Amino acid sequence: MSLKYLGIAAVVCLAAATAAAGTYIALATPKSRPARDVRVEITPERVERGRYLFHHVADCDGCHSPRDASKFSMPPEPGKTGAGFQFPEELGFPGRIAGSNITPDVETGIGSWTDGEKIRAIREGISRDGRALFALMPYRQFAKMSDEDIHSLVAYLNSLPPVRNALPKTELKFPVNLLNRFEPAPALAPARPPAAQDRARYGEFLAGMACLECHSQLKNGKPLPGMEFAGGHEFAVGRFVARSANLTPDEETGIGRWSEEQFVKKFRDYGNLSYATAPRAVQANFTLMPWYGFAHMKDEDLRAIYAYLRTLKPVYNPVVPHPQLASQTD
Ligand code: HEC
Ligand code: HEC
Repeated sequence: MSLKYLGIAAVVCLAAATAAAGTYIALATPKSRPARDVRVEITPERVERGRYLFHHVADCDGCHSPRDASKFSMPPEPGKTGAGFQFPEELGFPGRIAGSNITPDVETGIGSWTDGEKIRAIREGISRDGRALFALMPYRQFAKMSDEDIHSLVAYLNSLPPVRNALPKTELKFPVNLLNRFEPAPALAPARPPAAQDRARYGEFLAGMACLECHSQLKNGKPLPGMEFAGGHEFAVGRFVARSANLTPDEETGIGRWSEEQFVKKFRDYGNLSYATAPRAVQANFTLMPWYGFAHMKDEDLRAIYAYLRTLKPVYNPVVPHPQLASQTD
């Protein structure tokens, strides 16, 4: 065969393979299995643990409670915990994204779901109707939580006051709508998160769940390899722009010179903030960093995260978190 024909044959094969892959992707249904038949017993300890995880570690609050963009750090509005949040379009997500209403409201929330269905959504990424949840919802990370922590989250969700708040369903654009179907994964074996005493590894587990996505530049929704925790992820809302900080131990551009005490203090400094006392959002302070919730993360959890961040390779990546904008008026 002459070179010319070889070339054509290759193109034909490639086209056939692409078409096959296209059909495969278009027909794929998410990997899922039926929700388990479990009923989570509500105990005060579970509700307390679930409340802590919801507000102060996993930041369910940040994506599932209505937030006020006119105030510093977009605080969740009081009295509407879990009532859902429509993400501003400017954030640049591939479609119309709503963090669902996950209060026990029967009509607009998840009040009619079984506990098993809630557990499946949180750690396997499958909605009640079998649909793959958009992977912005960090179910892959949540799958690493212990059964007891997941049950605590469900106990807390069940204890929330129902809030009536209808939101449009999330609708992803092509091709993310197809690709996202590959994100859910059944949790086959019980997760065994590292013990809290194993500080750096426990910190890795917490930081993977709570910090990684925002503190890494993403490509196709995944952190750029080699740039994990090196910051520079840009967030734009309305007139404002913020970029996440470099959390690697680079001395010049990261937190290499921060002591553990300084790290913890940085969070505690926001401890008195509340919705009522929040300053107005201006470009110079604009952020999406969940300071309200994380200011009350337990000492041992913050210290574990610090211990883990120290083990990372220092990455030189200068970031200006609050850039001066040409159009700036504040
Ligand atoms: C970074 C944002 C984000 C975080 C953090 C987050 N979620 Fe979600 N969650 C979403 C989005 C967006 C959806 C809707 C996805 C869709 O419909 O495709 C969702 C969907 C859900 C659903 C399914 C609701 C439904 O009607 O299908 C449940 C349950 C849920 N989340 C619980 C939680 C809990 C509990 C936490 C904390 C442990 C949490 N989420 C943290 C963004 C988030
Ligand atoms: C929703 C996105 C988001 C999440 C989640 C998030 N951050 Fe941030 N973070 C930011 C942004 C944006 C900034 C820069 C603006 C600012 O300082 O508030 C920032 C700033 C910081 C700073 C300040 C650095 C400095 O030089 O002043 C620290 C420390 C930090 N984040 C640590 C963390 C840790 C630890 C976690 C996880 C427990 C986390 N962040 C989760 C977005 C996020």
